[in-house]
Amino acid sequence: MDKVTSPVLNRRQLLALGSVAAGGTVMSRSLRRDAQAAQAAPASPANPHAGHAAPVPSRVSTTTVAVTPFTEPMPVPPRLTPVSRRDGIDVYEIPIRPAQVQILPGLLTPAYTYAGSFVGPTIRARTGRPVRITYTNGLDTHANVHLHGGHVPATSDGHPMDLIPPGGSKVYDYPNLQRGATLWYHDHTHAYEADHVYRGLHGFYLIDDPAEHHLRLPAGKYDVPIMLRNAQFDDSGALVFGHPDDRVTILANGKAQPYFEVAPRRYRFRLLNAALKHVFRLNLGGEPLTRIATDGGLLPAPTSHTELALSSGERVEIVIDFAEHAGGGPVYLYDGDNPILRFDVSSRAVTDPSRVPVTLRALPPMGTPTVERTVSMSFDMSARPPIALMDGKPFDPLRVDVQVKRGSTEIWNVVNADTDPFPFDHPFHLHLVTFRVLGRDGGPPAPEDAGLKDTVYVSPKGSVKIQVTFATPYLGQYVYHCHYLEHSSLGMMAQLEVVP
Ligand code: C2O
Ligand code: CU
Ligand code: CU
Repeated sequence: MDKVTSPVLNRRQLLALGSVAAGGTVMSRSLRRDAQAAQAAPASPANPHAGHAAPVPSRVSTTTVAVTPFTEPMPVPPRLTPVSRRDGIDVYEIPIRPAQVQILPGLLTPAYTYAGSFVGPTIRARTGRPVRITYTNGLDTHANVHLHGGHVPATSDGHPMDLIPPGGSKVYDYPNLQRGATLWYHDHTHAYEADHVYRGLHGFYLIDDPAEHHLRLPAGKYDVPIMLRNAQFDDSGALVFGHPDDRVTILANGKAQPYFEVAPRRYRFRLLNAALKHVFRLNLGGEPLTRIATDGGLLPAPTSHTELALSSGERVEIVIDFAEHAGGGPVYLYDGDNPILRFDVSSRAVTDPSRVPVTLRALPPMGTPTVERTVSMSFDMSARPPIALMDGKPFDPLRVDVQVKRGSTEIWNVVNADTDPFPFDHPFHLHLVTFRVLGRDGGPPAPEDAGLKDTVYVSPKGSVKIQVTFATPYLGQYVYHCHYLEHSSLGMMAQLEVVP
């Protein structure tokens, strides 16, 4: 698939887009006052919105801290322990709070965190066993939590207007009535999700499915989630929320170009692109990658690739067998030509009971579509500042854009309606349910479109045809949006209502 990033723009065009990234013009009445107050206040680590108010982020004034690659180990985000397991429910408590985190060697970075860690603690859930999480907001601004990929009641979905005020708390219920998959949780505060996620409000939520145990895929400490994202830092180590193209530091689990020690055996890696705006071109320097799962869980069978594109919000799971590299040099994971993670293979022999069976898990049957719709993503670049649009309109939380009948199957033609000279790309994301990709740009799906998806890349001037069945017991309002979170923050989002 030809996944291109934004074409090179001239300085005037960049300034125009920069004002998009920084402006936040689409904002609800209820939040506008808060935002103005935040923007009027002096910049401080606890109040990054102040910096957010600059009309045009600088492309040149901020130096990038030089990092010597592969000097620090990649951490595996800590697994959170339930505070209770009574009544068949795993109960967790997670504070949302500012913290100083160590991302770059020798420097502290002010961040927004879940429970103090830049990559939030990992929740390990199990199909059929409910999880309840109480989040307490210790920030001086509104926040909320969305479980990306979660099949959850509307009241627990983290709707952009369903917010936790400073000092408040909210209980989210996750029934986990869905197959095993790599989910993630992140902030979804209306107009501020980009800012909040950029500053660290992101973590893994992994659903383990007993129906998949017989496959004997690598498990336990050989099943490793890796959050990939980019960032820009100033000399002090502070995050700079500027132009996306300046986020040249790639982080793996919150460290810049780390190394990871592995045993000479198979590992399952759950790769997530948590960058606000980036397409990773993942490869092992030419060696084949074995893919076993995409957003919504296991594929029918493993597939082999030289390179896999992963756009913002998407997940892909791969298995690497380091036994083939025992005694050899390190193995690198690249983003294009850029090595982002080094695997150091220990020479100590180990037994490996895991395998990658030729058959993994059949996908659920596809329904018969009864409704067909077109949805489009675009910018109005003639407006000053430019306006982000879904179906030609900026997001209005008081408007229901689409009603879908519970249980029905629909085809959506997701169209990238941007035109020259600003043909941007947009990853499309739908809450609540997964979908299947039927076609792309008038042709067959790309390799990246395989399996159950909830986020799909739409190239400049391209289109993607998806089929979705609203197989759910839940009714109510859910959003769909561009997962370049600066775009959704500016209004490239709409909402659907599931009705009986
Ligand atoms: Cu990952 Cu609506 O978001
Ligand atoms: Cu989501
Ligand atoms: Cu977009």
